[in-house]
Amino acid sequence: MKILVTGGTGFVGSHSVAALVAAGHDVRLLVRSPDRIGPALEPLGVRTTVDHVVGDVTDPGSVARALPGCDAVLHAAAVYDLDARARPAIARTNVAGARTVLRAAVDAGCDPVVHVSSTAALLRRRATVTPDSALSRTRGPYIQSKVASEAVARELQGAGAPVVIVQPGAVLGPDDPHCGDQARRLRDILRGRYPVWPSGGLHVVDVRDVADVHAAVFTLQAKPARYLVPGHFVDGATMFATLRVLTGRRLPCLVVPSPAMLPVSWTMSALQRITPFHLPADHEGVVFIGTATRCDDTRARDELGVEPRSLIETYGDTIRWLHRTGRLTDSQAGALVPR
Ligand SMILES: NC(=O)c1ccc[n+]([C@@H]2O[C@H](COP(=O)([O-])OP(=O)(O)OC[C@H]3O[C@@H](n4cnc5c(N)ncnc54)[C@H](OP(=O)(O)O)[C@@H]3O)[C@@H](O)[C@H]2O)c1
Repeated sequence: MKILVTGGTGFVGSHSVAALVAAGHDVRLLVRSPDRIGPALEPLGVRTTVDHVVGDVTDPGSVARALPGCDAVLHAAAVYDLDARARPAIARTNVAGARTVLRAAVDAGCDPVVHVSSTAALLRRRATVTPDSALSRTRGPYIQSKVASEAVARELQGAGAPVVIVQPGAVLGPDDPHCGDQARRLRDILRGRYPVWPSGGLHVVDVRDVADVHAAVFTLQAKPARYLVPGHFVDGATMFATLRVLTGRRLPCLVVPSPAMLPVSWTMSALQRITPFHLPADHEGVVFIGTATRCDDTRARDELGVEPRSLIETYGDTIRWLHRTGRLTDSQAGALVPR
């Protein structure tokens, strides 16, 4: 199958390209900057002469140039960042990109058309959600962009289009080409920048497990379909305990009720817009964790055979990669430094 992949120079997209190529597919990338293909794909062992079209997912002309000859699409391009400075880019990109790519792919007869959504689209306070739960009413620029993007995909599904929606949890793992939001937060935790953490929790999934699911959905017979791929539910106590076991460090941290953190994170995110360096309290992140939404991944386990790898493996490999690439010092990576 020839598969058009958007976001192939990003974290989820690059690992998904590697999984699709390993599964025997041909891939074409729609990229803004071809010079990013090498740095994203070389560490994953994918040949960087991969077919590509230069363009933007919000531009119908770019998408029209990229689709001919492709049988299927994986739409993994979007802006994922809870830093308040990313809001304009999120507003410009996420919903417009989903609308442009998914509709054009369906109109071109691609099958399947896979949309990378997020557990963010399903957030519900202290509830357990399934892939078919109602879309979230939780506020926040990124969260609402994922809600509105998934609404586009669900509308197409409602009309019978062969659209598959994958809803990953917070994604971690090695080889993140942009060192994105989750990897930077883990790096900053190990740099001691998070002495307090909000109560609640969120799901954390390994990027390699998400990539395997993306490869698996291209073999599905029954479409439309939706799959939650959340990984493990992680609260502050679990995360810090895991990091202490892995690094051998003390990593002191106080878990604070998230409602008490909201006014502080709101103020810091307002200040963030005029601050050149990152302030370690993204309001949307506190909101996200505070909902403590639990995700039911029974369908993905049963139909796709997904078994999430352990948190120890995911956090361990991510920290080793952060250290190997010079983002953590020996003392910050602790016991994970190769001897
Ligand atoms: N990371 C997570 O924790 C997580 C969790 C759940 C769901 N997701 C979803 O997974 C998807 C990918 O996220 P990610 O973490 O892989 O993000 P990422 O590493 O920042 O990658 C984003 C990708 O999208 C591309 N892109 C952004 N705007 C574009 C535009 N206007 N036109 C063309 N390409 C554009 C980027 O291209 P450049 O390389 O040129 O910037 C990059 O390839 C998103 O839909 C995100 O919401 C992510």
